[in-house]
Amino acid sequence: MLSKEIKNYINTNRRDFTNQPFSEEMALDNPIKQYEKWFDEALKSNILDPYAACLSTVDNLGRPSSRILYIRDISPKGFVFYTNYNSSKGSDLNLNKYASLNVFWGELERQIRIQGIISKVDDSVSDKYFNSRPRASQIGAWASNQSQKIKDRSELESKIKFYEQQFENKNVSRPPHWGGYCLSPISLEFWQGRSSRLHDRIVYTKDDNQWTKIRLSP
Ligand SMILES: Cc1cc2nc3c(=O)[nH]c(=O)nc-3n(C[C@H](O)[C@H](O)[C@H](O)COP(=O)(O)O)c2cc1C
Repeated sequence: MLSKEIKNYINTNRRDFTNQPFSEEMALDNPIKQYEKWFDEALKSNILDPYAACLSTVDNLGRPSSRILYIRDISPKGFVFYTNYNSSKGSDLNLNKYASLNVFWGELERQIRIQGIISKVDDSVSDKYFNSRPRASQIGAWASNQSQKIKDRSELESKIKFYEQQFENKNVSRPPHWGGYCLSPISLEFWQGRSSRLHDRIVYTKDDNQWTKIRLSP
């Protein structure tokens, strides 16, 4: 139960947005380019983890599930992130290739919603990224059966020790259950907070390999 003060705070605290516009004319024709433009502005605004996004997946019973992860590459093909293929998100994505990413840059009063179709990136791409990771993270990818129940922290720590010995004086290879997914977008919404909740929403959708833009009511 929330304390009275917290309840009161979240119920009454409001702020207006600063009214920075985002119009059809400002929106670039290609949404990936538009994403890069906003990303550049996020970088300049010193936003913490501007590459963090919330990924939503749906399981076989239609139950959605969301978690934060890092987008590690952006290309004309889509948005790439790395994870454990046997994790909960991995099993969701195995059954249902549709997923969404949500990026919120509060300091810029911006949200980007991306819907798309998931595929695994090539092994060579995952290898390259895995090899660039710190050794401790590489060992962690072997030691952690992501999303599986463990008895306690010491179970994880002893698995870390085990794999440290396995790979002593050797390069850590990429575990077969760890790699990248690419979310190829079918729709992207760029949301800019405006005064009095009259926000700007520009949505791109893909038809015949062509992007079209529309505006949605806030
Ligand atoms: C800031 C932040 C960044 C994260 N980055 C990743 C990531 O890149 N890949 C990943 O698998 N999990 C990442 N996580 C952990 C996930 O949120 C989540 O706990 C994990 O992937 C297990 O999710 P699942 O059980 O739904 O598969 C991150 C969490 C936070 C808070």
